[in-house]
Amino acid sequence: MTQIMVRGAKALSGSIAVQGAKNSALPILAATLLNRGETVLRRCPRLRDVDASVRILRYLGCEARWEGDALTVNTAGLCRSEISDALMREMRSSAIFLGAILARCGQAELSYPGGCELGPRPIDLHLAGLRELGTDIREDGGRLVCAAPRLAGRELILSLPSVGATENLMLAACGAEGVTSICNAAREPEIEDLQNYLCACGARVCGAGTSTVTVEGGAPLHGCEYTVMPDRIAAATYLCAAAAAGGEICLTGAREQHLATVTAALREAGCDLRAEKARIVLRRTEPLRAVRPIRTAPYPGFPTDAQAVLMAALARSRGATVFEENIFTNRFRHVDELTRMGADIRVSGRTAVVTGAERLHGAAVRAADLRGGAALCVAALAAEGETAVSGVEHIDRGYEDLAAELRALGADIFRAERPEAE
Ligand code: UD1
Repeated sequence: MTQIMVRGAKALSGSIAVQGAKNSALPILAATLLNRGETVLRRCPRLRDVDASVRILRYLGCEARWEGDALTVNTAGLCRSEISDALMREMRSSAIFLGAILARCGQAELSYPGGCELGPRPIDLHLAGLRELGTDIREDGGRLVCAAPRLAGRELILSLPSVGATENLMLAACGAEGVTSICNAAREPEIEDLQNYLCACGARVCGAGTSTVTVEGGAPLHGCEYTVMPDRIAAATYLCAAAAAGGEICLTGAREQHLATVTAALREAGCDLRAEKARIVLRRTEPLRAVRPIRTAPYPGFPTDAQAVLMAALARSRGATVFEENIFTNRFRHVDELTRMGADIRVSGRTAVVTGAERLHGAAVRAADLRGGAALCVAALAAEGETAVSGVEHIDRGYEDLAAELRALGADIFRAERPEAE
């Protein structure tokens, strides 16, 4: 069993470059299926979820190889339009392949991604949109059997701005005849990144970043070289780590405009934050203060993915902060573990009230999900004594090497292999 061991109460200092965005790389890897050429994806993060996408691409008959941080994918050899149940289960966001396979092959078969550690993960909006574009979808023993001999563009209206549905429908729309507009689309920066990749391949897509994305389908697509945007959630994690531990860090490659709600909260908490062109410097010398209520919301609101790491930082602060989680039903699983470290957090439904403690102490804790796991590491940096974080496989889904990055910032943190029985 792998654990992350942290000896806390040590200020951070130093500079690191932010990894490429997981939530951009995953839809872009699905989008590579739309052309029959080669994509060189630079700054592609090496993560468990990216590995799972690579396995899906290879299963479908595509070639993928790493060279440093560049992942080259050649989709010329695509020879399958179905994904096995085992591969679908490896990664919750594998549903994104549906739109791309349909656009390329006119048919697709894969299993329901099912629920996940954050609660139910429905894909009803994805399926409704694909049906409106002309896909026949039937369920057969947990498998989705989809046929779309001819996709036809049209206006689609999402009942809520789902990131995954917006992306899936963008990919399907690239293979549809005519124009598709996706209204009430999600506005996350990763959707703009997907659009930029598609346009670099010759697709005609515009509007990403606003609530209407328009795709003129049918353009012949070619391969390209593309650089994935920096990961705003990884950046938020390191900023919260420095806020928790104190000290001064510099993140290069981070874009503050993608993180405005997070940096605003950290400033309110008493951090000194300077954002220059492509770097963010955070300094925290005074104790943290509680902030006004944090309510997670679709972009540009406060990201649900940064809720846990900010909560961990504010677990040691002056005053009480209210967190309201509005995106996922099961996103407070880090709370009990933070409580083991001395945090005072009361949960009621979708609300958590964090009353800042004067001290946190090390403990044996378990990550139940990706961002919750990162939050435990953040809290451990502020805690006195040693913390052992297990459930590291969740953390590895989204961070290239969280412990190594924090070590580069001066933290006393490392990965350790422990016998299972311990
Ligand atoms: C993406 C991100 C994830 C982030 C989330 C919200 C990726 C790979 N993952 O997930 O890190 O936390 O956005 O910013 O980019 N919903 C439905 N029906 C649907 C689709 C979604 O009811 O068909 C609901 C979900 O249950 C959830 C909400 O909509 O409550 C938001 O989900 P969505 O925006 O789709 O998130 P993901 O794309 O799954």
